[in-house]
Amino acid sequence: MTWQVLIQSDVEPYETITRRLDEGDCHLHWWRDVTPPEDADYTSIDGIYVYGHFAVTPELMKRCGRLKVVSNFGVGCDHIDQAGAKALGVPVGNTPGVLDAATADLTWALLLAAGRNIVRGDHYARGPDFHHYDAAFMLGQQVTGATLGIIGLGRIGYQVARRAVGFDMEILYHNRNHNPEAETDFGARYASLDELLQRSDFVTLNCPLTPETTGLIGARELALMKPTAVIANAARGPVWDQDALLAALRSGHLHGAATDVTYPEPLARDDALLGEERLILLPHLGSATRQTRDAMAEMSVANLMAGLEGRDIPNRIA
Ligand code: 8YV
Repeated sequence: MTWQVLIQSDVEPYETITRRLDEGDCHLHWWRDVTPPEDADYTSIDGIYVYGHFAVTPELMKRCGRLKVVSNFGVGCDHIDQAGAKALGVPVGNTPGVLDAATADLTWALLLAAGRNIVRGDHYARGPDFHHYDAAFMLGQQVTGATLGIIGLGRIGYQVARRAVGFDMEILYHNRNHNPEAETDFGARYASLDELLQRSDFVTLNCPLTPETTGLIGARELALMKPTAVIANAARGPVWDQDALLAALRSGHLHGAATDVTYPEPLARDDALLGEERLILLPHLGSATRQTRDAMAEMSVANLMAGLEGRDIPNRIA
């Protein structure tokens, strides 16, 4: 049986994915734009494979006449209308767990890079102004022994905390629920959002994007942070207010910031954030290692095939 699969991507997907989809006898219908093509024949579509982060709306799902499954290459499914899928009885699969380590590693890369001026230092070391060594130059913020505040202590946040133990850090966290495991394993302590922001030297965002976390960090919250603090975002762009962040950095409040995510993604090439040197920007690399991408590919295609064949989806989010 050949399955008709709508694949939402504006780039050629990772080759493990196309190989696995081919082995599963999936015929791919490409959707490469932000909005799905009007003139396509959706009546034969059995499954949707989501490679990027474009919106999967109830309208689109309704148009796919024989839709049995939506499979997301990634853990965060904020771009998929899960309530809409549930109402239509269409299961949604994602890829939890396999990307925790890679995303936690990258979170630490962001924190360390912003705290220790790694990107500015790299530019300076290559530039025309580096004539002599100055021991008083580019002083950063000490990571070892500092206080870390983790906003969103789920699977990824847990791995971030685990790495913080090696830096002898005091760990605060703010989350929907308490995380007894992290409290026992790493001595992490639950704090209100305000206390976490006031007390932490390093703050990291590792929460999913939900109505509750949208705009969680705005001007008021940034003002609560220490002027020497560093904030990193490895979650989703809209968790913080980018304008407020830019204003805080420009006013000299905060040592620095680093982010793997923005809104929109990518930013317009003339966005003011691109000119702020105390902000480190990455192009959404959280899970981008060969090993992790392979695992995500296997998992997401397994979810898709299970849904197409009427089996239970191994990793079902909705
Ligand atoms: C992926 C992610 O890069 O899993 C997520 O939620 O944001 C990343 O791991 C992305 O989903 C792949 O498009």
